Amino acid sequence: MAQNPAPQPALSWSIVGQGAIGLLAACRMQQAGFDVSLWLRTPRLLTIKFAHRQLQFQPASAPISAVLIPVKSYAVTEAVQTLLPAMASDAQLVLSHNGMGTIEQVKPMLAPGHGLWFLTTTHGALKQPDTVQHTGTGSSTLAALNNAAKVKQQQVLQAMDIALGPVTLTDNIQPALWQKLAINAVINPLTALYNCRNGELAAQKYHQHIEALVTEVCKVAAACGYPMSAHSTLQTVLRVISSTAQNFSSMQQDLAHGRRTEIDAITGYVVQQAAHHNISVPHNQALLEQILLRQQQRY
Ligand code: PAF
Repeated sequence: MAQNPAPQPALSWSIVGQGAIGLLAACRMQQAGFDVSLWLRTPRLLTIKFAHRQLQFQPASAPISAVLIPVKSYAVTEAVQTLLPAMASDAQLVLSHNGMGTIEQVKPMLAPGHGLWFLTTTHGALKQPDTVQHTGTGSSTLAALNNAAKVKQQQVLQAMDIALGPVTLTDNIQPALWQKLAINAVINPLTALYNCRNGELAAQKYHQHIEALVTEVCKVAAACGYPMSAHSTLQTVLRVISSTAQNFSSMQQDLAHGRRTEIDAITGYVVQQAAHHNISVPHNQALLEQILLRQQQRY
């Protein structure tokens, strides 16, 4: 008779950095009783105020059995490089960021026993000094990216459901990543360029430009093997513009504060894949150049 697999013991988790989404996940996991520590550039004890409580986090120490890496796309490979010597031979790594292209970079860095995951989320969080606020309730999509991840599926799913749930587990993360890429390829560079809140993009004057950007992303996604309807993707983008109307996008904030943006992993990835498939994407190309120029002037 087939038997249910024995429940696996919960993993202890490390969270990389002190970004808003990572701290939100850390706080929710600690409140639910998980053993959570923080992997910071300078290891130290951190106290965070969350939902009227002061929560304390120890610095992460080896061996690391599971780690959530919610850092900017351009910081992922460096973060993995520094984590590697501290990771257990069967450690689980969960990537989570805007943009695409890092999975291919991280896979060859790992040992055969290391499980790799990607989690894409619509939760919103705001970090102020020593405080994190859950500003937008969302959901997440999670996928195992190799066999070593599937072995620990139950434990990773359970933890991520507490951290940034409700979580939908999928066999193939690519369609969800392309959908998110279309959203980010419109909202992020346009709000950064016009220095405005997401909601301002609902104005009629931006409609044609948004439609052209979406159509190009859908063509590239289809050439990569992930067909998306331009009509329904446009509706999704417009829905996110309205549901996050009061927000300043991450790219608007990065550019306004003189920080590096994630343009390379967002519009840059669209343009790179378009070139690979011989597809012309003039609207995304122009936007990429404009943001890179602004970034150079400020960064
Ligand atoms: O990067 C961001 O800011 C977010 O992914 C989104 C969905 C564009 C909302 O601001």
